[in-house]
Amino acid sequence: MNTTRRGFGIDIGGTGMKAAIVDLNTGDLLSERLRIDTPQPATPDAMAEVVCELITGHEWNGPLGVAFPAVVRHGVVGSAANIDKGWLDIDADALFTEISGVDVHMLNDADAAGIAEMRFGVGALPDGSPRPGVVMMLTFGTGIGSGLFVDGVLVPNTELGHLELDGHDAEKKASAKARDRDELSWKEWGARVERYLRHVEALFSPDLFIVGGGVSKKPDKWLPYIDIDTEIFPAAMANNSGIVGAALAMERHPG
Ligand code: BGC
Repeated sequence: MNTTRRGFGIDIGGTGMKAAIVDLNTGDLLSERLRIDTPQPATPDAMAEVVCELITGHEWNGPLGVAFPAVVRHGVVGSAANIDKGWLDIDADALFTEISGVDVHMLNDADAAGIAEMRFGVGALPDGSPRPGVVMMLTFGTGIGSGLFVDGVLVPNTELGHLELDGHDAEKKASAKARDRDELSWKEWGARVERYLRHVEALFSPDLFIVGGGVSKKPDKWLPYIDIDTEIFPAAMANNSGIVGAALAMERHPG
C-alpha cells in the first residue's frame, strides 16, 4: 500500500504568492491553496515575511520548495527581469531558511512547472516515467518562462523568453501580458506565439512543447492559430504546476 508523502510548495508571482500542501505521489493538493498578494515593493525581506505567513498558515514545519520568476542558481537569484532589482545575487535559500526556520529551496518558476508536468502532466508517460527526448515547457504570463528537459533531466535556467527575436526581447511581444497590453485578438497573439515557437523549434528541435500559464486553461482560443512542426500540448496542471513542482524539487534537495 502506498503511504502518502507530503510536500509543501510556494509559487511566487508578480501579483500573488500561493502555497499548498502537496501529495508527492499523485501531485494532488492536500490542502486549500492559500494566496497572499505579493507585497509592493516586492523586496526580499517583504517577501520573506509572506513566505513565513504562508508556512504558518498551513502549520507546515518540514522542508519546502519555492518557485520564483527569475534565474535561480543553487538557491541564489541571478536575474531580475520582472522582479524587484533588490533580489539580484540574494541567496534566497539562506534568507528564507533563516527567517522561516525550515529548509527552503528556491528554483525558477518555469523549471518548477516543467518538473510537475514531467511527473504528473503532459510530460509523463502512463507508467509515470518522464517522456524521453527533448521536452520544452514554456509558460506564458507576465514574461515567458522556459523549462528544458532532456530524457527527463532538467537543464535549469534556460531563460528562452529572453531570446532576441526581430530585434526584441521575445517575451515583450509574445507573453500573455503583451496580449493584454497591445489589446491583441487571440489570432494576432497566436501569430506572435507561432513566430516565437518556430524560432525556438529551429534552435532546439524539441520533441514536445508544453504550454503553461493562464492560457493553458483555454487552448481552444489560441492553439488553432499555431502551425508548427513540433507536437504541442497545453499543460495539464494549469494553476498548480508551480506549487507542485516546487514541492517536488525540494524532494530532490533534501536538507
Ligand atoms: C524571467 C524568467 C521566468 C519567466 C516567467 C522571465 O522574465 O526571466 O526567469 O521564468 O519570466 O516568470
